[in-house]
Amino acid sequence: MSYPRVSTFKTPEAFQERLNDLRLELQFDREVQSGANSPLGQSVPFQDQFIGNRFCILPMEGWDAESDGKPTDLVRRRWRNFGLSGAKLIWGGEAVAVRHDGRANPNQLLINEENLTGIQELREIVETAHREQFGTTDDLLIGLQLTHSGRFARPNDGKRLEPQIGYRHPVLDEKFAIDSDDKIMSDEDLSKLIEDFVSAAVLSQKAGYKFVDVKHCHGYLGHELLSGFDRPGKYGGSFENRTRFLREIVSGIRAEAPGLEIGVRVSIFDFTPFEPGADRIGVPSMVESYNSAFGGDGTGQGIDLEEPTRFLKLLQELGIKLVCTTCGSPYYNPHIQRPAIFPPSDGYQPPEDPLVGVDRQIQATAQLKQQFPELLIVGSGYSYLQEWLPNVGQYAVANGLVDFVGLGRMVLSYPELPADVLAGNTMPRKKICRTFSDCTTAPRNGIISGCYPLDPFYKEMPERQELLAIKKEMG
Ligand SMILES: Cc1cc2nc3c(=O)[nH]c(=O)nc-3n(C[C@H](O)[C@H](O)[C@H](O)COP(=O)(O)O)c2cc1C
Ligand code: SF4
Repeated sequence: MSYPRVSTFKTPEAFQERLNDLRLELQFDREVQSGANSPLGQSVPFQDQFIGNRFCILPMEGWDAESDGKPTDLVRRRWRNFGLSGAKLIWGGEAVAVRHDGRANPNQLLINEENLTGIQELREIVETAHREQFGTTDDLLIGLQLTHSGRFARPNDGKRLEPQIGYRHPVLDEKFAIDSDDKIMSDEDLSKLIEDFVSAAVLSQKAGYKFVDVKHCHGYLGHELLSGFDRPGKYGGSFENRTRFLREIVSGIRAEAPGLEIGVRVSIFDFTPFEPGADRIGVPSMVESYNSAFGGDGTGQGIDLEEPTRFLKLLQELGIKLVCTTCGSPYYNPHIQRPAIFPPSDGYQPPEDPLVGVDRQIQATAQLKQQFPELLIVGSGYSYLQEWLPNVGQYAVANGLVDFVGLGRMVLSYPELPADVLAGNTMPRKKICRTFSDCTTAPRNGIISGCYPLDPFYKEMPERQELLAIKKEMG
């Protein structure tokens, strides 16, 4: 199945026609405005400061830290680009493990006393680059994303999962070779982990970050616990129990790091895992019913925002104002999480036009935003829009569907997009992310992540040849 490329929609009419064909609600502005008074240029108050515009850099790791979790030059280069982007909200930078066994790969950043100077330096690099380019950091807000990778932990060997799970899963256990209950984290294990999150938050504050994101997305531990409907004990079953992990971390942070703000990045809906079917087109792994999705409607392919709404209400009650919405997981349903025309090597051909996936995230986020006008909500999944990203983003912000347009992959290929849009510059075609998925395929094969097709720095690297050879072999 092939879908028309976004780059072929040369006029607003052509783009609109495609949206009509797909019967999508997605709306966009024909003209993008520039300057501080444009919808995307407007600042928004947050605590004792302003956040200077409506672009947010989403967290993106590169599988390229030292084995002890300290940043390398590649990490520093990526963060510098985040600073140069012009976006005024940096959501987490990238996933940083709160302890070694929770690392998603042996080269994930790790926060501890020993690594603190390096973690602090990353914030300073963003600030310095931003100040040099834009004159001030008074309206810049930088947080750090804290994580434990749970089911997808690979702390010691990039090829070997060392999972720690919330509950036994009907599909993922088989897919990732979990055949006993040994891997289930006990309530005591979780209590200990909560302390580690709190300690990591204390260190983040010391390193000068204004907020920490207590990550609850993408199938990692925090997110998995939200769907632990059958998990016994105090962290499973009822909504209250499934959110206890979050509540205990928040109360620990409030006690031990007063003044540190908290944000939560959450997968607001989830689908059943997908797998390659005929012609490698993705098909759902469970078709009758699927009951392991937070924000799912029980079919495995539908959304029910009742619990995510309760979750945001809880965040509000906990005094949390910063929320970043995303969905699903890059490991088991990448097409909903990061819509792409070309799948990553461990994925499947898109079972729907990726525009459908973009629209799904935007509409679900808008429904939540409507109910929680006081929260500051960052949306995700915009990169597939390519040339039309600013038009869709501007419409979304101007019409109150979301507060910030989050940028993921687009920032790897084209870091200056926010600055260019706000200055009214034309977007250079050769920098626009075309969702080739190399930045996901590379780490799936043990290679550092980066934009190999478009970023001249990565194009030159020997790893590019390695990646090309792997892709060729896989056909
Ligand atoms: C290479 C890569 C690394 C990522 N790393 C993280 C991460 O560390 N934490 C996180 O919450 N999301 C991570 N994501 C997901 C992105 O933040 C984002 O949700 C996703 O790419 C969809 O947004 P986009 O369409 O703008 O790319 C990563 C995505 C990519 C492509
Ligand atoms: S490798 Fe580059 S072009 Fe491909 S999805 Fe990643 S950022 Fe986009």
